[in-house]
Amino acid sequence: MLKPFLHFLITIIFMLYRNGVSLETDTINSTLVLKDSDTINSSDKQFTLGFFSPNGTTNRYLGIWYYVSPSSVTWVANRDHPLNDTSGTVSISSKNIVLMNGNREIIWSSNVSSSIQMNTTAQLLNSGNLVLKVTSSGSILWESHNHPVDSFLPTMRVSHNPRTNEKLGLNSWRSFQDPGHGNFTSGVYSAGVPQIYIWDKGVPRWRSGPWNGQVFTGVTNMYTVYVNGFSMATGEDGTVYFSRSFQDKFLSRNFLDSDGFLVEALWDGVQKDWNVTWTAPRDQCDYYNKCGPFSLCYSKDRPICSCLRGYEPMNTLEWGSGNWSSGCVRRTKLQCERGNNATDKNKEDGFSRLTFVKVPDFMHWSSGVENECRGLCLRNCSCLAYAYDAGIGCMFWSGTLIDVQKFNGDAGADFYVRIAYSELDKEDHKVVVIVSAIAGSFVASVCLILSWWACKRRDKRVTTYEEWVKGLSDSSETVPSDLPWYSFEVLANATNNFNVANKLGMGGFGPVYKGKLANGKEVAVKRLSAASGQGLEEFMNEVVLISKLQHRNLVRLLGCCVEKGEKMLIYEYLHNRSLDAYLFDRTQDVLDWKKRFNIIEAIGRGLLYLHRDSRLRIIHRDLKPSNILLDEDWIPKISDFGMARIFGGNQDQANTRRVVGT
Ligand SMILES: *[C@@H]1O[C@H](CO)[C@@H](O)[C@H](O)[C@H]1NC(C)=O
Ligand SMILES: *[C@@H]1O[C@H](CO)[C@@H](O)[C@H](O)[C@H]1NC(C)=O
Ligand SMILES: *[C@@H]1O[C@H](CO)[C@@H](O)[C@H](O)[C@H]1NC(C)=O
Ligand SMILES: *[C@@H]1O[C@H](CO)[C@@H](O)[C@H](O)[C@H]1NC(C)=O
Ligand SMILES: *[C@@H]1O[C@H](CO)[C@@H](O)[C@H](O)[C@H]1NC(C)=O
Ligand SMILES: *[C@@H]1O[C@H](CO)[C@@H](O)[C@H](O)[C@H]1NC(C)=O
Ligand SMILES: *[C@@H]1O[C@H](CO)[C@@H](O)[C@H](O)[C@H]1NC(C)=O
Ligand SMILES: *[C@@H]1O[C@H](CO)[C@@H](O)[C@H](O)[C@H]1NC(C)=O
Ligand SMILES: *[C@@H]1O[C@H](CO)[C@@H](O)[C@H](O)[C@H]1NC(C)=O
Ligand SMILES: *[C@@H]1O[C@H](CO)[C@@H](O)[C@H](O)[C@H]1NC(C)=O
Ligand SMILES: *[C@@H]1O[C@H](CO)[C@@H](O)[C@H](O)[C@H]1NC(C)=O
Repeated sequence: MLKPFLHFLITIIFMLYRNGVSLETDTINSTLVLKDSDTINSSDKQFTLGFFSPNGTTNRYLGIWYYVSPSSVTWVANRDHPLNDTSGTVSISSKNIVLMNGNREIIWSSNVSSSIQMNTTAQLLNSGNLVLKVTSSGSILWESHNHPVDSFLPTMRVSHNPRTNEKLGLNSWRSFQDPGHGNFTSGVYSAGVPQIYIWDKGVPRWRSGPWNGQVFTGVTNMYTVYVNGFSMATGEDGTVYFSRSFQDKFLSRNFLDSDGFLVEALWDGVQKDWNVTWTAPRDQCDYYNKCGPFSLCYSKDRPICSCLRGYEPMNTLEWGSGNWSSGCVRRTKLQCERGNNATDKNKEDGFSRLTFVKVPDFMHWSSGVENECRGLCLRNCSCLAYAYDAGIGCMFWSGTLIDVQKFNGDAGADFYVRIAYSELDKEDHKVVVIVSAIAGSFVASVCLILSWWACKRRDKRVTTYEEWVKGLSDSSETVPSDLPWYSFEVLANATNNFNVANKLGMGGFGPVYKGKLANGKEVAVKRLSAASGQGLEEFMNEVVLISKLQHRNLVRLLGCCVEKGEKMLIYEYLHNRSLDAYLFDRTQDVLDWKKRFNIIEAIGRGLLYLHRDSRLRIIHRDLKPSNILLDEDWIPKISDFGMARIFGGNQDQANTRRVVGT
C-alpha cells in the first residue's frame, strides 16, 4: 500500500526539483528541454552530457565528459561560440539537436537537413557518442563521433581517403581553457602504408611510423590489437579508418592536448586522477624531421643528429653549430649516377644496415618477401633505401629520406641505406678509433703476452682476449666495438667479490650475481661453470654472435670476461626478477590477466626472433619461467639463449650427449 504512494511522492519531489537535477534518462526527446544546470548520463554512467565552463573562465559550453572526471571533456558542441551566461538550452527542434541562448537564437545545431517527415531523438550512448536518430526506425542521422574534438574514444574512427584526400581527425583545444579550434590536428594519413601524424597548422610535427597490421613500427611499447584494441581498416572507397575497438577494464583516455601532444592516460580510481602512461612526441628525436634530410636522430647520441652512412653535412658550419635544418647530402655517386664511361661503372652499390629504426616518411610499398627487397631496390636507380616488415612487405624510398629516428631497441625495423661500393669498405670513424685504441693497448700488452706465452706454451689455442683480437685482425672480421671486455677485477668489485648476498640465483650454467659497476650501472654477472669444453676462440666467437642478437624481448648481453680460468657473461639487470617468482608464489598477486597476456605474447615474439628472424636461428633448449626475466615495466625478456650453442658444441651434430634443460 505504502509503496505506490512513496513512488508518487518521489515523482512529485523529482518534478518539483526538475530545475537543476540530473535527469534519469540518456535520451533527449521532443518534449524534453535541457537547461544549463541539467545533465544526462549514459546508461552505464561512463559519460555525462551537459553545460560546463573550462577551468578559469565563465563561458558556458555544451559538452560531454567522463562521469568520474567532470573536468575531462571529450566533446564540445559550440567550440567557437561560447555562451556568456547560463541561459542556454538544448532541445530537439526541427529534427535537429539545437543549442539556443536566452534570446532563443541558435548557437549550435547538428545541422541535418532532411525533407522527410519524422520524429527524432538524441541519445548519449555508453561509448560517449551523442547520436541523433529517427525515433521510429532508430537509424542514425548524426553522431558526435563523426565530429571529433580532441578525444579519441573507443568505437570512434579517424580516417583518411587517399583518393579525395578527405580527412577526419582530432583537433586540439586552443588552450586549456578555450575549447575553440586550436593549432594542432592529429589523425591517420595513408599514402600506401597508413601512419598517424600530429600536424601543427598542417605541418607534420610527429609521425607514428608505418602500421604493420599489429602495431605502429615507430611507437615504443605498443602491443597488438588483441591487447589494446587499435586497428586499421580500409573501406570500399579506399578510405582508411583507424579505431580502437574496445576499452579494457581500466578506464583509459587518448587525446590531443592543447600543446600538441598526443596523450594516453589511465584513470586511477583511488587517487581520482589520470596517470599519464604515454605521450608523443616524447623526446627531441620524436619531432618530425628534427635533423633534416638524410640524417639519423638518436636521443642517446651527443649530438643527437648524425648523417646517414655515405652522407655528409650539407653545410658543415651550420651543422657543427647545431642547426641541422639543411641535413646531409651524399658523398659519393651511386652506380646509376656514374657516367657510362666511368671506369668503375660495373661496381655494384651496397647497403648499410641500421637496426631499430623509425623508417623515413614517404615510403613506397610492395608485397614481397624479405630477400627480394634488396634486389628490387638495387635494380631501381631511384631507390635510395629499403626496409622490410613481415606485416607490410618491402618498403622503398626515393627522392629523400626524411625523419629517420633510431630507438633504443624497443621499437623500429631494420633499415638499409644504399651506398656506393667505394663507401662499403671505408671504416666507420668510430671503428677506426676503437681499432687504433685496441691496437695501442695491444702494443702495450705485447710484453705481457710474451711473458705469459713463455711460461704457458702448452698448446697453440688462443687463450687470451688480446690474442683473439689479433686473430681477428688477420681475418676479415672486424672487432666487435659494442661488446666491452670486463676485467675480473672490475666484476669482483662490482659483485662484492661474488658475495653470496649478491647471488641472484643458480642457473643451469652457473651462478648469477647482481653487480653494480663503478658508473652506477646495475648488471647481472653469470659465472659460467667450467663444464664448457670450448676453447677461448670458439667461446668468444659465440659470445660475439650472441651479443649481436638484439630484440626487446631478449636479455641484452653487455660484455664478457675470460680471465683467471673463468668465463663470465655480463647481462643487463632486470628489476622484476624472473617469471617463476610470480607464477609459483601464491602470495604474489601482481600478474593480472593483461600483464599475463602481454608476457605470453612477448615471449612468443622473442622466440620468433630467435627461431626465424635472427641471423643465428637459435633454439633455446631451456625455456622455462625462471629464464623469463621481467623489467620494471613488466616486459619479459628471454635469458640464457645461446647457451646451448656455447655448451652444446657444434650444431651440425644431430645428437648430443648432454641432456639439456627442460
Ligand atoms: C520524453 O521523455 C520523457 C522522460 O523520459 C517522457 O516522460 C516523455 O513521455 C517523452 N516524450 C515522448 C514524446 O516520448
Ligand atoms: C584550475 O587551474 C588552476 C591553475 O591552473 C589549477 O591549480 C587547478 O587545479 C585547476 N582546477 C581544475 C579543477 O582543473
Ligand atoms: C550524472 O552524472 C553527474 C556527474 O557528471 C552526477 O552528478 C549525476 O548525479 C548523475 N546523474 C545520475 C542520474 O546518475
Ligand atoms: C551575452 O550575449 C548576448 C548575445 O549573444 C548579448 O545579447 C548579451 O548582452 C551578452 N551578455 C553579456 C553580459 O555580455
Ligand atoms: C549547415 O552547415 C553548412 C556548412 O557548414 C552551412 O553552410 C549551413 O548554413 C548550415 N545550416 C544550418 C541550418 O546551420
Ligand atoms: C511524431 O510524433 C507525434 C506525437 O508524438 C505523432 O503525432 C506523429 O505522428 C509523429 N510523426 C511521425 C512521422 O512519426
Ligand atoms: C597557435 O598559432 C598562433 C599563430 O601562429 C600562435 O600565436 C599561438 O601561440 C599558437 N598556439 C599554440 C598553443 O601553440
Ligand atoms: C598512478 O600513479 C600513482 C603514482 O605514480 C601510482 O601509485 C598508481 O598506482 C597509479 N595508478 C594506476 C591506475 O596506474
Ligand atoms: C638554420 O639554417 C637555415 C638554412 O640555412 C636557416 O634558414 C635558419 O635560419 C637557421 N636557423 C638558425 C636557428 O640559425
Ligand atoms: C664521358 O666521356 C665523355 C667524352 O669523353 C666526357 O665528355 C664525359 O665527361 C665523360 N663522362 C663522365 C661521367 O666521365
Ligand atoms: C623505381 O622506384 C620508383 C619509386 O619507388 C617508382 O616510382 C618506379 O616505378 C620504380 N621503377 C621501376 C622500374 O620499378
